[in-house]
Parts: sequence; C-alpha cells; structure tokens
Amino acid sequence: RVDGDVRTFDLRLQSGTSDLGADHLTPTWGVNGELLGPTLRAERGEAVAMRVHNDLPETSTLHWHGMHLPAEMDGGPHQLIEPGNVWSPTWTIDQPASTLWYHPHLHGGTADHVYRGLAGMFIIDDPLEAELDLPRDYGVDDLPLIVQDKNLDDDGELDMSESFFASAGVIGETIVVNGTPGPYADVTTEAVRLRLLNGANARPFTFAFADGRDFDLIGTDGGLLETPVAMDALQLSPGERGEIVVRFEPGERVVLRSDPSDTGNVFAGGQDRLDIIEFRAAEQLDPSPRVPDQLAEVPRLDPEDASEERSFRLSDSTINGLEMDMERVDEVVEAGATEIWTVTNADGGSHNFHVHDVQFQVLDIDGREPPPHLRGWKDTVWLRQSEPVRLIMRFGHHTSTEWPYMFHCHTLRHEDEGMMGQFMVV
Ligand code: C2O
Ligand code: CU
Ligand code: CU
Repeated sequence: RVDGDVRTFDLRLQSGTSDLGADHLTPTWGVNGELLGPTLRAERGEAVAMRVHNDLPETSTLHWHGMHLPAEMDGGPHQLIEPGNVWSPTWTIDQPASTLWYHPHLHGGTADHVYRGLAGMFIIDDPLEAELDLPRDYGVDDLPLIVQDKNLDDDGELDMSESFFASAGVIGETIVVNGTPGPYADVTTEAVRLRLLNGANARPFTFAFADGRDFDLIGTDGGLLETPVAMDALQLSPGERGEIVVRFEPGERVVLRSDPSDTGNVFAGGQDRLDIIEFRAAEQLDPSPRVPDQLAEVPRLDPEDASEERSFRLSDSTINGLEMDMERVDEVVEAGATEIWTVTNADGGSHNFHVHDVQFQVLDIDGREPPPHLRGWKDTVWLRQSEPVRLIMRFGHHTSTEWPYMFHCHTLRHEDEGMMGQFMVV
C-alpha cells in the first residue's frame, strides 16, 4: 500500500496448518498466511513503513536480513513484539537491487520460529538493474525460491529433534520450496532467473541441475555481480542468496537438485543428494535475451582505507570465547569507517558468518583470492575449518548509542546457543 510517499506493509505473524505432504496437516506459522510470507518489494530511495502485528501466542521479532537501516528498525533480539502488539519500523531503502529476506530473530528462539515457517523474501529494485536485459517478470521468468528442509513426525508435526550427525540442529529429509513439497515450475521462456535463498536452519545446499548444465550466477546476497559467472554448482549456506539465470529447451524437464556440499569442515550432516524442484518447459518458449556481459559496478573496497581490524573466532557456541549477552556490546564501530574483519571457524563446526546492516566483500580466504562467485556484495559467508576469511566492509551512518546490530553464525541453533555478538555504530 502506498500512503503518500511511503510504501506501507501490513504484516501479521499468525499460526495455521499446511500440507507438507504428510498424512496429516502440519501446524505451521506464517506471515499473512499459514506458512512463510509474501514477497515484499521496494525501490531504492523509497521510504517504507512496516506494521508487524503479532497474532502468535509467543513473543517474536522480524528482522530484515541484508538491509541497511537504523539498528532500532533492524528487528533483532532487542525489538521484541509481544503477542497482540504491533511493531512499526520505518526507514528509507538505500542500497542496490538485491534479494534480501526477513525472518524472526528472537534470542534463543530464532531456530524454532524460522523452522515453523516465519520467513519471506524482500526484493529491492533500482533503476540500474531495470535497464539491464535480465528476466524480471515476477512469477513468470523471475522466480523466488525459498529452499528449506523439514522433518515431519508420524502425526505430520514438525520434528525439531537433533540430527544424529551434527550439533547444527535439525537436518530434514523433506524439501520444501516456497512452502511446497515436491514442487515443479512451468517454464514459458527460454531463460529464467531464479532467486535462490537457503532458508534452512542448518543444511547447506549445493544447487546443480541433474544434467549438469551451466547457469549464470548474476547476483549474490547484496546485489548484482560485476559480470555473470558461468558455473554448474552453487553452494549456499543458511541465510545466503544467489540469483542465477538458466536456459531451457522447449518441452524438456530438468530437476534442480542439491548435491553433497564441499564444506571443508567436519560437519557431516546435509551431505545427501536431494531433488529441489522440477522445471517443465512448454513446447514453445518465448525468446529471452542472453545475459549481459556487464551487470553492475561493484567498486572494490580498498584495504588501505581500513581504519580498524578485528578478528572473530567461532567455536563451541561462542565468538572469541564469549556467548551472546544481550547486555554486552562487543564492538564499537565508527560511522562511515572501513574495517577488515577476519573470521575463523576454529572448531570445524557448521559455521558461517553474517553481519547486520552492511554488505561486505571477501578479501581472501586462507590467503587465497576469493573465487569469482564470491567477489560481489555479501552479508553471509561460509567458513571452512581453520581457513580464515578476511572481510572488508564500510559501515553506514545510522548511529545509535542505545541499539546494537548483530553478527553471528547463521546456523540457527548455533546463533540461539550464543554464537552471536553485538556491535554499535557511533
Ligand atoms: Cu538472517 Cu541476524 O540474521
Ligand atoms: Cu541479518
Ligand atoms: Cu555455527
């Protein structure tokens, strides 16, 4: 809804039931529905106002993952929405076209609330992206794919018991895409853009087509890449996004699946091969242009500009030996500063690293240049055991001495257990 110059979204956290393919309906939670939530969409420069009603029996929050915004509007663990209450954050969209998402961020309860179904996509548009010859007909040749794994017990209820293999939390055998088990998509154009989101609690996915075909990676967490990257497999850990463009032949059927992931750590869960979604191409396909050679400008952040270096060691439910404490501010950052953060997976667990408010660039991984698919804007990055990842980021100008932002492992059980810290921008 547009009120004057403000785009207003009415969101309601609610409970319901969903058909997840079991014999019984599954109790689930959703936003404006029974499972997951609507795709939100706004343009760079636009003011947005959210009204988030909590109709659930539990306190929750709603966090805008990947969004650059004031900490008070971030929807982290400090912005609680009690049952029956409404939370109304507002901000102005100030970042490039990208595929972001939203989900609860209740300290100690994020894994549970996301697993029950609270999540959705948040697409940012901008005029530069709109000028490019890319598929952008939403629901036709531009498809959001929220990919998750669920475990259902005999009664059809979501089963959150721990996996035998890992301390990472639930690893499910039922794949749901946009909340649908056993999904397929009709294809009517030669090329389709897929906005892939790993919305799972713990499982890494390695997206690849069953016939091994190439696709073009055009965007990562924070926006378009400089140039498309041709690849045949894309690994995304929980929270990460990738935009790919894939081409189809008339009449064919091909399955996108998840192959075993090269995680580089001792984490053993989530290594099976699973079908994600089948694409069914029509006998006649509308022509699609080739992906442009040049996509967006991604100005490299310069390590020489960094005024501060920090390091973060993730192990045993801690970062730098400390469990998350809502009352402790771990890092204080100067507004506008460029910083280098070195992040290390020190115990071989299933860890990645997510920073709120900023998009970063990967400088190097264990001293090596990042591969081409990790040279764009990112807000979440996978960590291989004992391979330090150096990130460079420039902080914004939303200052506060009251409200912190979070950084954490996005394996949700780890986050809940305390592998999270807080920083303030002052
Ligand atoms: Cu997607 Cu701090 O979260
Ligand atoms: Cu986030
Ligand atoms: Cu972790």
